[in-house]
Amino acid sequence: MAIIRAAITGVGAFLPEYRLTNDEISTMVDTSDEWIMQRIGIKERRILKGEGLATSDMGAWAVEDLLRKTGTLADEIDMLICATITPDMSLPATANIIADKANIHNAWSFDLNAACSGFLFSLATATQFIESGRYKKVVIVAAEKMSSIINYKDRSTCPLFGDAAAAVLIEPNTEDLGVYDYINRVDGLGRHHLQIKAGGSLKPASQETVANEEHFLYQEGQAVFKAAVSSMADIAVEIMDKNNITSDDIAWLVPHQANMRIIEATAKRMKISKEKVMINIQKYGNTTAATVPLCLWDYEKQLKKGDNIILAAFGAGFTWGSTYLKWAYDTE
Ligand code: UT7
Repeated sequence: MAIIRAAITGVGAFLPEYRLTNDEISTMVDTSDEWIMQRIGIKERRILKGEGLATSDMGAWAVEDLLRKTGTLADEIDMLICATITPDMSLPATANIIADKANIHNAWSFDLNAACSGFLFSLATATQFIESGRYKKVVIVAAEKMSSIINYKDRSTCPLFGDAAAAVLIEPNTEDLGVYDYINRVDGLGRHHLQIKAGGSLKPASQETVANEEHFLYQEGQAVFKAAVSSMADIAVEIMDKNNITSDDIAWLVPHQANMRIIEATAKRMKISKEKVMINIQKYGNTTAATVPLCLWDYEKQLKKGDNIILAAFGAGFTWGSTYLKWAYDTE
């Protein structure tokens, strides 16, 4: 009997219209386009504007785009996983709200919080359900309204992040295309370097936590940078070695888009030339869980059936991982 693999069979996305440029950020904090381009490599990022709009709205629009593109009916979806660190609210899960807004009624759904590695952790999870043979159509939607947790008075974090959502459909494949392998890891000690200090059970919201600006993302940039460079490169090399593939075999590296210098260091360690690296950080910034599927969406037309692709990510937690897959379709 042919092996069932979990394959990505379509990609959808939603990008808010508003473009927050480096020049506009320079009017908010003491920074410049030159500093941001040199140290991070981001030119602009999208921001979701509009009263009452949340992560679930972007997520639902990305899912609707995916269903339209793949000709899938909402009721055919068996399961929906939402990768996010910016849920609409603590409960219920944003995945449930997205399913409701996208008219998906025959699925169960849940949120997965692995920060910037959220898409990779979700893909590994979806892979189990597809490989078991019990699930036929799983949606992963990575959606982040990062602007809701960013302090636009903090120059060390506000240039980095943007809002976006991207969704993929995962289906069984018996032609040896799809996910071949993944390695995912965590180190909880890393939580001290990248976190939101208040608003959870440890430190519930109070006037004091608001006054202390503890509901915004807190990051010790250099510590995270160092860990990201070594962990992302190491794990990507590890998955190549484990599967006996070299840089020549790889059509595309899809790295998490946090900082151009981290992307370049990872590609260098893997000996992969820049033309094979998906990069869109300059347009959207770091959209946390959404960066990897947003790259696949941006580059979809250039992808060919059978292409060997390595996904790599690193994020809060710390969480990091790498996935090796063979792309499953050509786009007309
Ligand atoms: O996706 C989740 C994982 N996150 C990441 O991977 C992010 C990892 N970290 C980074 O990308 C970088 O550490 C940052 C982009 C956040 C910061 O870059 P850096 O080169 O590590 O800068 P730094 O924190 O060492 O700061 C160097 C200087 C400091 O000034 P002094 O103390 O040397 O006078 C900062 O105050 O740069 C200053 N600085 C800025 N200057 C102008 C920090 N942010 C800015 C800014 N504009 N926006």
